[in-house]
Amino acid sequence: MQPILVAYATTEGQTRKVAEFIAERLRIRGHRVDLVDLATPAAQGIGSAYQAAFIGGSVHQHKHQSALVHFVKSNRDWLASLPVALFSVSLAAAMDDMDSRLEARRLANEFLDESGLKPLEVRCVAGALKYTQYDYFKRLIMRMIAQQRGGSTDTEHDHEYTNWNDVEAFVDEFLAAAHVPGSRPVKG
Ligand SMILES: Cc1cc2nc3c(=O)[nH]c(=O)nc-3n(C[C@H](O)[C@H](O)[C@H](O)COP(=O)(O)O)c2cc1C
Repeated sequence: MQPILVAYATTEGQTRKVAEFIAERLRIRGHRVDLVDLATPAAQGIGSAYQAAFIGGSVHQHKHQSALVHFVKSNRDWLASLPVALFSVSLAAAMDDMDSRLEARRLANEFLDESGLKPLEVRCVAGALKYTQYDYFKRLIMRMIAQQRGGSTDTEHDHEYTNWNDVEAFVDEFLAAAHVPGSRPVKG
């Protein structure tokens, strides 16, 4: 059976954590996985021999990483021939109000329009506030945004909003929708 590709772009590391979690869940289900950070040279060597792909990135100032857009544009033809799942990590997806949820989906749709990707499934994944990793100005800006949106303003600590049960459900929904063969049932 051909492997499943999990390719991602990250700025502060939360999307890497999500991608690693997806890869681990796929392996538990019996799949071979290629996990690739699109900012590394390994991204140049990604071929077309996959049965499915998870593609993900995060939102900064209303945009996904240019490495993600570049990867999708340069590999559009073979990506169009297999089932693809997009995961878009953002702070907007972490908030409970409807406006934020719609904003997260709008940002994902803008990425799809720009890149031309046509995924079978899209998931907006709640990200993290990594105050301890930000420089002074980033911390100030993110604290202000968090205050407006209802996120934590405690800059002494990092805050993870990712719902791991939701990410796991996303993996299973995609495998079922894509009719990916060979998935082992997971007990418990
Ligand atoms: C400078 C900066 C700008 C951001 N801009 C947005 C934004 O426009 N919309 C949003 O929903 N989240 C925004 N975020 C939140 C990130 O999407 C969130 O922290 C995410 O977990 C980052 O993922 P990464 O660690 O994989 O880069 C921003 C974060 C930073 C640090």
